[in-house]
Amino acid sequence: MERQRSSSYLRTLLFALCVSSCCCSFFGDSHEEATSAARPSGSNYYYNMGGYPSYFGTIGEVGGGGAGGQGLMETDFAAAMGFESEILSLEGFGAPDSSCPKAVSVDDYGAKGDGTTDDTKAFQTAWAKACSSSPAPVMVVPANKNYLLKQITFSGPCKSSITLKIDGTIHASSNINDWDGLNRRHWILFQKVANLTVQGSGTINGNGEIWWENSCKRDKSKPCKPAPTAMTFYSCNNLMVSNLRIKDSQQIHVSFERCVNVQASNLMITAPESSPNTDGIHVTATQNIRIMNSVIRTGDDCISIVSGARNVKATDITCGPGHGISIGSLGDGKQEDHVSDVVVDGAKLTGTTNGVRIKTWVGGSGNAKNIQFLNIAVSNVTYPIIIDQDYCDSNKPCPEQGSAVEVSNVVYKNIKGTSASDVAIKFDCSKSVPCHGIVLQDVNLVRDEGEAAKTECRNVIGSSRGQIAPPSCF
Ligand SMILES: *[C@@H]1O[C@H](CO)[C@@H](O)[C@H](O)[C@H]1NC(C)=O
Ligand SMILES: *[C@@H]1O[C@H](CO)[C@@H](O)[C@H](O)[C@H]1NC(C)=O
Repeated sequence: MERQRSSSYLRTLLFALCVSSCCCSFFGDSHEEATSAARPSGSNYYYNMGGYPSYFGTIGEVGGGGAGGQGLMETDFAAAMGFESEILSLEGFGAPDSSCPKAVSVDDYGAKGDGTTDDTKAFQTAWAKACSSSPAPVMVVPANKNYLLKQITFSGPCKSSITLKIDGTIHASSNINDWDGLNRRHWILFQKVANLTVQGSGTINGNGEIWWENSCKRDKSKPCKPAPTAMTFYSCNNLMVSNLRIKDSQQIHVSFERCVNVQASNLMITAPESSPNTDGIHVTATQNIRIMNSVIRTGDDCISIVSGARNVKATDITCGPGHGISIGSLGDGKQEDHVSDVVVDGAKLTGTTNGVRIKTWVGGSGNAKNIQFLNIAVSNVTYPIIIDQDYCDSNKPCPEQGSAVEVSNVVYKNIKGTSASDVAIKFDCSKSVPCHGIVLQDVNLVRDEGEAAKTECRNVIGSSRGQIAPPSCF
């Protein structure tokens, strides 16, 4: 085991060294917080899984798709414990080196970046070139230009590790018909690319208004159809995504699916509060992922962590508006789902409907376990702490069923701030599979006007330590 771990560490380190010696001058871009644009406020749409895109399971619809994700479950827990040092080792960038690969601009392949020309083909050609070269040139999307892309797939495997540096703006076609005959679940898709870095100071604009207007959440007379995820990373191992702004996605902004060893950092993700299903970062069937230092203000979950996610660490995350940080939904359609080993450490949520949430559907199975929510500040959050094991977001009622996704070993430590509803702590668990091993430690939540809030508990077993306000039910 020890040996396996150190060799994978070494591989990651080699990758980092390679990236660092080659592309050092491209890293370290950062951006200031976006000035918050005026947002339409208020209206709530309800959540429905039909509108919830997961590319997972639909990959076969895309050219060249297949099972992918080999070795997904191969690392065991002990090995995975070392994941953080591995992921962090992706960060070490050294000095420049004469072996630096050239930067190749998409403009060299005919991209115009004039805001109206369709640059999809040029990007495809540039990628094909970069992906088949060794060492791969850094593919650059130049600053101060605006490229129009229709649906596009960047496929691997590539010959070497590869960097896409986006400094300009990329915006999506606003014509829904451009997706005719294509998989409507994605706009920009990276699939099966190992050792990929996507960074820069640029903006990815999903131009989602037209999709939001056509959403069944907005207009109940419209059929519920999927809408694209702005950036999907499918089966990409050793992945770094940093410094980008991603805005106004058609639906989910960034989705990691079946990836191993991921670092996402310094991302700024924004969409109006009223935009339906626009999750910030979505994690599914992905192991060893660190999300850090990012600001996410959208119309849905800030971060959603769903089935098959393991070893997820999110640190220094700012959310709101939106629906908060969510594990789930799990167990939809009687599915068996598993999520484990999640740490959210350092989050600030403002004006969100939930703070830290675990939501599972009635009738599902599997589990959500070993979860820690640490150092969370909430302000004007409707349900700061919530486990919702009888989640039902459907037009039809969801009757209580014999099974449920088991929720266990969840720690809430140092959670402070204001609740916008009377109920600051809500544990709503099922009779058949109660939540257990729930720990509250140093929690201080009050109503926004400073009055006392309350705790609601149903079918939950746990313990508390330190001061707990509102009073714990344990
Ligand atoms: C990716 O990096 C690993 C080492 O971490 C290496 O074994 C593998 O060959 C690399 N693949 C590509 C396509 O660069
Ligand atoms: C609380 O959040 C809601 C929803 O985002 C917002 O409409 C309201 O203005 C906020 N209230 C305060 C006091 O900030």
